[in-house]
Amino acid sequence: MKIRSIKQLKNLKNKRVLLRVDFNVPIKNNKVADNKRILVSMPTIEYLLKQKAKVIIVTHLGRPEGYNGKAKSGYDKKFDLSPVVKKISELLKKKIIFVGDKKIGRPEDQKIYFDSAKKIIDKMKAGEIVMLENMRFFPEEAKDITELSKKLASLGDIYVLDGFAVAHRAAASVSGVAKYLPSYAGLLLEKEITGLSKAMDKPKKPFVLILGGVKMETKIPVIKNLLPKCNYALIGAGIINTYLWAKGYKVGDSVVDKDFKKEILKYCNSKKVIKPVDVVVGTMDGKTYRHVMINKKPNQICKTGESILDCGPGTIQLYAKYIKKAETLVWNGPMGLFQTKPYEIGSFSIARLVASRAKGKAFGVIGGGETLQAMELVGMTEYVDLVSTGGGAMLEFLSGKKLPGVVAVSVGKK
Ligand code: 3PG
Repeated sequence: MKIRSIKQLKNLKNKRVLLRVDFNVPIKNNKVADNKRILVSMPTIEYLLKQKAKVIIVTHLGRPEGYNGKAKSGYDKKFDLSPVVKKISELLKKKIIFVGDKKIGRPEDQKIYFDSAKKIIDKMKAGEIVMLENMRFFPEEAKDITELSKKLASLGDIYVLDGFAVAHRAAASVSGVAKYLPSYAGLLLEKEITGLSKAMDKPKKPFVLILGGVKMETKIPVIKNLLPKCNYALIGAGIINTYLWAKGYKVGDSVVDKDFKKEILKYCNSKKVIKPVDVVVGTMDGKTYRHVMINKKPNQICKTGESILDCGPGTIQLYAKYIKKAETLVWNGPMGLFQTKPYEIGSFSIARLVASRAKGKAFGVIGGGETLQAMELVGMTEYVDLVSTGGGAMLEFLSGKKLPGVVAVSVGKK
């Protein structure tokens, strides 16, 4: 997939650049609690400022009341962008003009909002930054309605998408607006697409996929798409629970997705799928736990009240053999409930093994909120080649799906 990069743009001076980022960050006590998603788009903002563009930042934050049409759309205090604006301003040491509007709610408010935004943008000077309101206050955002896309497009000369984490959403401010403006990928989006494509399209072999987590509807498509390309898939967490249950093992209260019995048996019976040989089972609070071997013949893994909550030491040793030989590593999803002791050992061991092999011996890619968290807890994030900011977006990309945001900035897009 060939994308258009902002680096291809020759003269950005005085150009109004509509920059769609994903600053969907956690807010606590009216402050940004974790600014990583903002930091990763800083190079793109700084690049545009250096080129003397007029930067108009566009993002969403959370899932406000009216998002998805379940309630009345409009301003929602919980998702006010003011703390985000403050944080960007602090990081850049620069004033940001925020076009906020606490009154958005009625259909006619869209026109009022965009008319006032236009007046402000018309007065912008080169190197200035304006930030627009949370896009999800507009009901048209999620439905990718042309009217909102066109209104957004009228505010810019060029559209740049930098938020990989939102590239899987066919929203008005993601793929919609790109139909009406020359569209390019920002530096972050370019880095993520290039890295993920390198792992998927031309992986150096052995290519080892490591997949954990619990949401089968997002993991099964990844196994389906990557099984033919990878040499081995090491599985854990909900995937192994569901597999063991489907094979007739007694898994107690473990998280199992019964809707995927057929698929899990179809894919996980493959010789390429390496399964745990032992697990740690116990209570959710970690007060009672024990080590259990997985027999060839279905055995009782858990009693009632127990769940499979981590992979065991034998599994870590087995998985280490594959990881240590890999030349391409892709990891998404923890091996267990790493937030509760003693169930962190599996995920932390995998994190250390992946980081030790990456940036050198193997090209290592990780993604997904919990995977990143586990890697941070072992303090080895910097040793990974690509830390994808996308959770859902990364999984859809690995599943081989066309992401609307990526298509919008690709060469030959319709
Ligand atoms: C994310 O946090 O994964 C993105 O910002 C997308 O958010 P969404 O799942 O609410 O669309």
